[in-house]
Amino acid sequence: MLELKSLTKTYHNGKENVCAVKGVSLEINGQDYLAIAGPSGSGKSTLLHMLGGLEVPTTGEVVFEGKNIYGFRDDELSAWRNRMVGFVFQFYHLIEELDVRENIAIASFNQKRDCASKKALELLKYLEIEDRKNFFPSQLSGGEKQRVAIARALINEPQIVLCDEPTGSLDKDSQDKVIGLLEKLNREMKKTVIIVTHNMELAKRADRILSIRGGEVKFD
Ligand SMILES: Nc1ncnc2c1ncn2[C@@H]1O[C@H](COP(=O)(O)OP(=O)(O)OP(=O)(O)O)[C@@H](O)[C@H]1O
Ligand SMILES: [Mg+2]
Repeated sequence: MLELKSLTKTYHNGKENVCAVKGVSLEINGQDYLAIAGPSGSGKSTLLHMLGGLEVPTTGEVVFEGKNIYGFRDDELSAWRNRMVGFVFQFYHLIEELDVRENIAIASFNQKRDCASKKALELLKYLEIEDRKNFFPSQLSGGEKQRVAIARALINEPQIVLCDEPTGSLDKDSQDKVIGLLEKLNREMKKTVIIVTHNMELAKRADRILSIRGGEVKFD
């Protein structure tokens, strides 16, 4: 479904060049449940952002249905990302002033607010956190916040769900819950799930592990 062709990313920090990703080529299938593992600074987040249309590669292509997404105009690329990709981050990024249901609904591109709100409730049910629908983020545990963030990532029905250290801030029980739900998205909802982590326990539960070191794929 997505093909990464010799992706590289070089950052220019004043005089210094940092080569974060060095020639990564990879095919991602629609039904993949893939973990990207590697030490801190190995280029995991950079790679995830490039494959999700968030970060322009220095060289190389991300090909979707025969087209390089970075050949799109800016508005076409945003439209592609909005339709295709949902993101889940380590630190949730919920809006403190909005309750759980509103946090999810506000991310919807559906102009009809009641539709978005109804859909938000369905997702909360699916992620088994419906009873927290009227809570504010400050009233939730880390694991609950992450389940809300997953619901938000799903509101526009993306095919691909990209997660950057989704369990990085959670205790063991909450980690297991979140990991179980991400597996369910892949198995039941048929989403392509890609998880960046340095937690090998989490990585081992994926169908496929991509190990990266110093910006290069060590094994797939
Ligand atoms: N915006 C940036 N400007 C300059 N250098 C950057 C930038 N973003 C990342 N880098 C550098 O690129 C390299 C890879 O960073 P990246 O964030 O992809 O690593 P990571 O594997 O996700 O690490 P972590 O596990 O700590 O999140 C690092 O050396 C980092 O310093
Ligand atoms: Mg990172």
